[in-house]
Amino acid sequence: MAVIHSSIPFSFPGIAEDIDRLKRLLAHSLSLMKWAAPVEPQLLNIACGRADETGILLETLAAHRPRCHYLGLDLRQPEIQEARRRWTRPNSSAAKQDLQIEFRIADAASASAFPEGEVFDCVFIRHQNYWDAPAVWDLIFHHARMRLKPQGLMIFTSYFDREHELAIAAQRSRGFPLLLDIPHAQSRALTDAPGKSVDRRLAIFSHEFRS
Ligand SMILES: C[S@@+](CC[C@H](N)C(=O)[O-])C[C@H]1O[C@@H](n2cnc3c(N)ncnc32)[C@H](O)[C@@H]1O
Repeated sequence: MAVIHSSIPFSFPGIAEDIDRLKRLLAHSLSLMKWAAPVEPQLLNIACGRADETGILLETLAAHRPRCHYLGLDLRQPEIQEARRRWTRPNSSAAKQDLQIEFRIADAASASAFPEGEVFDCVFIRHQNYWDAPAVWDLIFHHARMRLKPQGLMIFTSYFDREHELAIAAQRSRGFPLLLDIPHAQSRALTDAPGKSVDRRLAIFSHEFRS
């Protein structure tokens, strides 16, 4: 698959390296699970922000696939506007893939945020924020679970161990099977809070995935 380049370079020091490390963590996790991308992946990135991770999600979850639908959702208009500027469809004559990349300003706690009737092979949430607003994130996770194909994967990462464990416990208490919980050995420490680091842990859930 062609690497999808953003039209605007990453604007903060360290982000490109974080994204590269996330790609390796994700690829490693999926290989542990013996996961293979479906023929036409449908990917949902919830609370995508500026969607820094869009390129590596496409490279990891839709590599060598002729077609893919990728949808990013976030509450914040400036972030979605920047995501749209960055992640334009590649030059169609050069593109080997039919990539439908779409970003929407939407509240993922509301069912109306999600496209009518579409279910996804992977729902990704980078740096979920469960402990900040558990009631809101219970709704977001509910919609994520409901929008997943039976064999589909819900994948999330977290900044903090405790936040990660709370989000995992919330899924398990609703009967959603945890398939993998992996610490990120190369996670970059952040100085604004103790115990905080980039993509510190990654968890994968599925209703019915079997390798
Ligand atoms: C910690 S940032 C993560 C952004 C991006 N995934 C990343 O890791 O760089 C959390 C994002 O969640 C978004 N968010 C929070 N509540 C949301 C909601 N109810 N619906 C959609 N997005 C939400 C915020 O706007 C913010 O962009």
